[in-house]
Amino acid sequence: MEQLVQLINNYKQEINSTEAATPDAVEAFRIKWLGTKGLVKTIMGEMKNVAAENKKEAGQLLNEFKLFVEQKHGSFTLGTSSIQEQAAGIDWSLPGDPTPVGTRHPLSMVRNKIVSIFQRLGFAVAEGPEIEDDWHNFGAMNLPEDHPARDMQDTFYISQDPAWLLRTHTSSVQARVMETQKPPIRVICPGRVYRNETISARAHCFFHQVEGLYIDENVSFADLKQTLYFFVQEMFGKDVKVRFRPSYFPFTEPSAEMDISCLICGGDGCNVCKHTGWVEILGSGMVHPKVLENFGIDSNKYTGFAFGMGVERICQLKYRVNDLRLYSQNDVRFLKQFTGIV
Ligand code: PHE
Repeated sequence: MEQLVQLINNYKQEINSTEAATPDAVEAFRIKWLGTKGLVKTIMGEMKNVAAENKKEAGQLLNEFKLFVEQKHGSFTLGTSSIQEQAAGIDWSLPGDPTPVGTRHPLSMVRNKIVSIFQRLGFAVAEGPEIEDDWHNFGAMNLPEDHPARDMQDTFYISQDPAWLLRTHTSSVQARVMETQKPPIRVICPGRVYRNETISARAHCFFHQVEGLYIDENVSFADLKQTLYFFVQEMFGKDVKVRFRPSYFPFTEPSAEMDISCLICGGDGCNVCKHTGWVEILGSGMVHPKVLENFGIDSNKYTGFAFGMGVERICQLKYRVNDLRLYSQNDVRFLKQFTGIV
């Protein structure tokens, strides 16, 4: 045992006074001490000469020594790699170039919020094509070819074949749902729509809608009001008031537009509400019997309500976006303001 302790102490002294500043020197150190024929292996072999009663103590000493050599070797390795890096002129401790991470578009966030509110009420999501035929966009919706209300929605027609157009509302998706499903029907239709408008702060040639349709037995105007009232409270908060004004849409009868109390001035009157205290957010009504019959739905048995809103408008009211063009200009200074708010 004494010999062993002595030997280990000598080795430690030798190792402590060893320097290995180059990769070659580190490798030489490794071979001498830790290699297959290295001194650590050799001294470990001395175990067999240790008396049985000392084996435990000797084992501990030897293990400790092995660890000591390995740590020394590790510190050499670290030292030389930083020498190499410095030689290559690289400072690995500098922070990396940040990679900018995108954010969700405010319209997507608001659309998702609208959709999730209606999903909680049991509405399913339906989508359809942006390039539509006349029937699904107009005809089926009780807007025959000579109907003056077609002028309400300035339509982009496909020049090669005017039987095709860019949908002016997602009511076209409702038409496709009624074509393929039987009542009860409960869907919302989010999507992009197109209208031939001059681009300004208040109008754009495309925007986004969420329309809804509910058809079942005994669906009443009271259901419509309560559903939309629930939506407004979830979207804008419990303090917001609503009012319905009689209106006209060819596909609903009776029809109503819904206003909410102005969120900007709280109803006192400001520029956004044109000093009325109210702002319009959607159109709605009871599905016209003719629309139901167009899809073979018995209008004596079934009734339904429908509504449609613009996502940009909801976003404008919620986040005070005062220019519609901002949504499609892709200015990151605008877009990144919406990170994580909905
Ligand atoms: N489709 C109408 C529009 O785009 C909105 C609407 C939908 C109105 C359903 C009433 C019922 O203006």
